[in-house]
Amino acid sequence: MKAEIKGIGMYVPPRVLTNYDLEKILDTSDEWITTRTGIKERHIAEEWEKASDLALPACKEALENAGMSPKDIDAVIVATSTPDMTFPSTACFLADKLGCSKPMAFDISAACSGFIYGLTIGNSFITSGQFKNVLVVGAEVFSHIIDWSDRSTAVIFGDGAGAVVLSATENGSGILSAVMKSDGSHWGSLYCPVGEKLRMRGRETFKLAIKSMENASLKALHEAGITLADISLVIPHQANIRIINALAEKLGLPEDKVFSNIHKYGNTSAASIPIAMYEAWKEGKIKKGDYILLTAFGGGLTWGAIVLQF
Ligand code: COA
Repeated sequence: MKAEIKGIGMYVPPRVLTNYDLEKILDTSDEWITTRTGIKERHIAEEWEKASDLALPACKEALENAGMSPKDIDAVIVATSTPDMTFPSTACFLADKLGCSKPMAFDISAACSGFIYGLTIGNSFITSGQFKNVLVVGAEVFSHIIDWSDRSTAVIFGDGAGAVVLSATENGSGILSAVMKSDGSHWGSLYCPVGEKLRMRGRETFKLAIKSMENASLKALHEAGITLADISLVIPHQANIRIINALAEKLGLPEDKVFSNIHKYGNTSAASIPIAMYEAWKEGKIKKGDYILLTAFGGGLTWGAIVLQF
């Protein structure tokens, strides 16, 4: 028994904030942001919009693409660092808004690695035989925890949601390996105290990101019993185009084998991988049966990688 991705969906709020808009409120420039991060614009939620509001349309689309109803879902897992409330979980709000039939529902706090942590947990539920269909969601409203006077972080993050329906299958495809790690001794690189705003030490995060994603990727490939040559596309967390390009170089991959859409969305934290996977699929860059590698890192520090057959 394996867990495969049956359906995928995404949603970003319509309001776009460009680098030129940021030039008007901060001492920054489109040139600085583009060359240092690769970001051109990001989507920003309204003040009243919560993570579950962004997750809802993403989940509806994932269910529709899977040909399934909310009633088929046994568990809802939401990865978010910007939950609707401390409790109840965003997953409980989301399951209710979707009209699910009282599934297990809970949130994961693993910052930008949250979605692949969620996929790993969903995979375990399915391969153990406990559940058949699990909704795994990354949903974030980082605009709510950004200090809009801090140019070093305000230019980086964006809002959005991505979701997958993970289902039991015996056709051989699905998740092949998952490597998940953390190191709390580096917590000060990227953190957000309760009720306060996000803080980051950019340089430190940058270096740790490349090394940790490279190591996790190689370990996940080894555990899946395949090599990089078998991989059709690497979908890394969208934190910075320079991190993505450095990872491609370390792995010895051409840039076109490593997906990026950071120019449109910035860093949407736990939502970035499902949004990127959705767009790669829509653009025909991943097809049924392809091997793909997902890798992420984030506050915690947390990091990891997953190899799956789409
Ligand atoms: N516009 C213009 N100048 C800026 C700026 C901005 N938005 N943000 C910072 N600067 C300035 C700094 O104040 C500094 O000026 P100084 O030399 O006069 O002190 C200079 O640019 C260089 O700052 P530094 O932080 O050393 O730049 P950098 O090359 O490391 O790039 C990041 C900064 C944040 C883009 C980069 O470190 C990064 O992407 N790190 C990873 C962050 C990340 O991915 N976080 C999410 C993890 S999931």
